[in-house]
Amino acid sequence: MDKFVVYKSKLSGEVKISGSKNAALPIMAATLLTDQDCLIYNVPDLKDVKTMIGILEGLGKKIKLNRGTLSVKSNKIKKTKNFIAPYNLVRTMRASFCCLGPLLAKLKKAKVALPGGCVIGPRPVDLHIKGLRDLGADITIERGYCQAKAKKLKGTHIYLGGAFGSSVLATANVLMAAVLAEGDTVIEHAACEPEIECLVLFLKKIGARIEGEGTPILKIRGVKKLSGCEFKIIPDRIEAGTFIAASLATKSPITIKGANPLHLTSVIETARRIGAEIKIDKDSTIFIKPAKKLKPVNITTFPFPGFPTDLQAQFMACLCLAEGISLIAEKIYPDRFMHVAELNRMGASIQRNGPYAIIEGKEKLYGAEIMASDLRASAALVIAGLASEGNSQILRVYHIDRGYEKIISKFRKLNGKIKREKQ
Ligand code: UD1
Repeated sequence: MDKFVVYKSKLSGEVKISGSKNAALPIMAATLLTDQDCLIYNVPDLKDVKTMIGILEGLGKKIKLNRGTLSVKSNKIKKTKNFIAPYNLVRTMRASFCCLGPLLAKLKKAKVALPGGCVIGPRPVDLHIKGLRDLGADITIERGYCQAKAKKLKGTHIYLGGAFGSSVLATANVLMAAVLAEGDTVIEHAACEPEIECLVLFLKKIGARIEGEGTPILKIRGVKKLSGCEFKIIPDRIEAGTFIAASLATKSPITIKGANPLHLTSVIETARRIGAEIKIDKDSTIFIKPAKKLKPVNITTFPFPGFPTDLQAQFMACLCLAEGISLIAEKIYPDRFMHVAELNRMGASIQRNGPYAIIEGKEKLYGAEIMASDLRASAALVIAGLASEGNSQILRVYHIDRGYEKIISKFRKLNGKIKREKQ
């Protein structure tokens, strides 16, 4: 197992944002809907992407990932292998559950392990199941597996809102099943995240008929067959937001290339309130110049276009160094606070109360031995490490390899003092 050793750093220079992990994964699953070839550009080279490649290869697809270009060859899905995602894969990557919709649509049969909870809290799949049942699927849960079958899927009106609002992957699953269903489907309370918009654009490119991308109402007219295409994945807004947080925490001006500022409005607005001058060029280059003193702010996480839960931990790391008291309300995953104890070990003063965290800013944080608990919490600890006196040892960094492409070399290019060592 590897660890990161991180030293206090002043960052400078330019960083290029990779393709979005959360857009790439459902789009890879969507290639199961067609027998024709797909060429997908800007795919990040990540552990999660490799896990999805493994699942698709298990189903008979021929896949190559070369310098960000993913080629998915036209082999037919092996009917005998519709037992797609065993627990050991789904457990490491929840997004593998979104093979359920496409497999059901294409083979009329699928068996996928239930993902279960994780360190960020319980992660139910009731909305996925409800939406697919509305389309006519017969779904049973047995021995930790979700088994789905349908003679045919039939378009209908589906309300997909849950206790915590819309669901990104439930929208993806139900949408992917509906594109090959008979007749018209309406998905109400669909997720509006840019990753879902990107999935819709991909599906349209392979011949699906969908209206309403980027809105909570998706209208789908089922088609009989889909084709292949060439398609480019959107930039990773969470990676871009992570570098914005790093710039603030280390009080270092940096330049971000290749992000889409329209996907980052709430994040840029929050960074400005904390105290950064942010300029955006015509070519979407983002220039961040943090103030010498950071201001405390209140942040509430919401579905898009609200502040993303996937950046809550990284911005908490910044607010540990603001002058005053900040409040974070976590409305998507009320238990997503594993990083609090680790940040407190670095000298932060954070109190958690249910879905809220109260952060009393300190003048300094101090390097320590700390434990990464999940993907985004790991990024928060890297940011805290870069902004702390002395050095930090971040253990269990395998989480970060799941979702950040070349994180060490990107920070090093920004003059971040960070290295990977054997734990
Ligand atoms: C996706 C992202 C993840 C991000 C999350 C929220 C991927 C691969 N992952 O995860 O990084 O943190 O969106 O933006 O894209 N819920 C239910 N029932 C369900 C499904 C979800 O109640 O059937 C709840 C969840 O517990 C959570 C909320 O809905 O409270 C949103 O979760 P959801 O959007 O489904 O997250 P994912 O799609 O799994």
